[in-house]
Amino acid sequence: MLLEVRDLHVEFRTRDGVAKAVNGVTYGVDAGETLAVLGESGSGKSVTAQAIMGILDMPPGRIAGGEILFQGQDLLKLKEEERRKIRGAGMAMIFQDALSSLNPVLTVGDQLGEMFTVHRGMSRKDARAKAVELMDRVRIPAAKERVRQYPHQFSGGMRQRIMIAMALALEPALIIADEPTTALDVTVQAQVMDLLAELQREYRIGLILITHDLGVVADVADRIAVMYAGRIVESAPVHDIYKAPAHPYTRGLLESIPRLDQKGQELYAIKGLPPNLLHIPPGCPFHPRCPMARDVCRTDVPPLYEVSPTRGSACHFWRECLDDYDG
Ligand SMILES: Nc1ncnc2c1ncn2[C@@H]1O[C@H](COP(=O)(O)OP(=O)(O)O)[C@@H](O)[C@H]1O
Ligand code: SF4
Ligand SMILES: [Mg+2]
Repeated sequence: MLLEVRDLHVEFRTRDGVAKAVNGVTYGVDAGETLAVLGESGSGKSVTAQAIMGILDMPPGRIAGGEILFQGQDLLKLKEEERRKIRGAGMAMIFQDALSSLNPVLTVGDQLGEMFTVHRGMSRKDARAKAVELMDRVRIPAAKERVRQYPHQFSGGMRQRIMIAMALALEPALIIADEPTTALDVTVQAQVMDLLAELQREYRIGLILITHDLGVVADVADRIAVMYAGRIVESAPVHDIYKAPAHPYTRGLLESIPRLDQKGQELYAIKGLPPNLLHIPPGCPFHPRCPMARDVCRTDVPPLYEVSPTRGSACHFWRECLDDYDG
């Protein structure tokens, strides 16, 4: 495994108490593999990513337990200086909002070039040439001229390509893309996602793709990890999930994707809201919203049951959920 997160716990100290944002997350990604991490807003997807990257807001955040193994090494045991070296050269992150992640007063050429002057000791001239090459690589037209422009002079889609170029610059083994296309128009979304998937395959990058949109992952992901209230509730190869979900929450997400063949029908939505992380319900945290909930669900926390050697579900009734499905 390129990256293995084991039983990770992250909490935030707030005025009202301790918010348990990540409660025992375990997931992994191999070189050349794409793991999609799915779940509604507030389920702990970004906080897990921030813990992996070593950019968690501490305080108020605190890693309360677990391990993050990157190429066999526990990142949580490293000094900040060692982690800084891994960031960039070993792993990189792509954020949703390129405009606030890029420096507004530097040209994109200078920002891309800096990756090579700072980390690789290249001359400015060579670094500029590399910047143009990268912009070509992410298919920004007229890269030679546009390398002199500032982030605000690019469209949202082009800026997201620049973010991808920045992430690729030092050829990291792992990229975490956190909702990389959420802010874009639907057509541009598809283009940027295709580009990311193509580069991921070409460079054999391990990609963690965070999204709340199951619709975008079908074509690009190998595996899916579904998060709810800071836990993994289902983890499986992507085809297994589309064939039949083994957790009622995954099923709810699947049924809320708009489908072309059901135009006009009312879209299903999971009722209720995700729990308050200061007071996560006892038993299965999904039980207040679950159409399949029974008494045992209100008292007993479901472990991640083994559905198959490559699949897990944290539902006491996963078998029933699988059998019921007529997708
Ligand atoms: N800087 C912070 N301070 C306090 N609480 C935070 C902070 N960042 C995240 N949280 C808590 O962690 C929860 C999960 O956040 P996040 O991982 O960003 O969710 P998402 O799945 O939408 O990416 C939030 O709902 C919030 O309660
Ligand atoms: S354990 Fe119970 S409440 Fe939780 S998802 Fe399964 S059926 Fe629903
Ligand atoms: Mg997020």
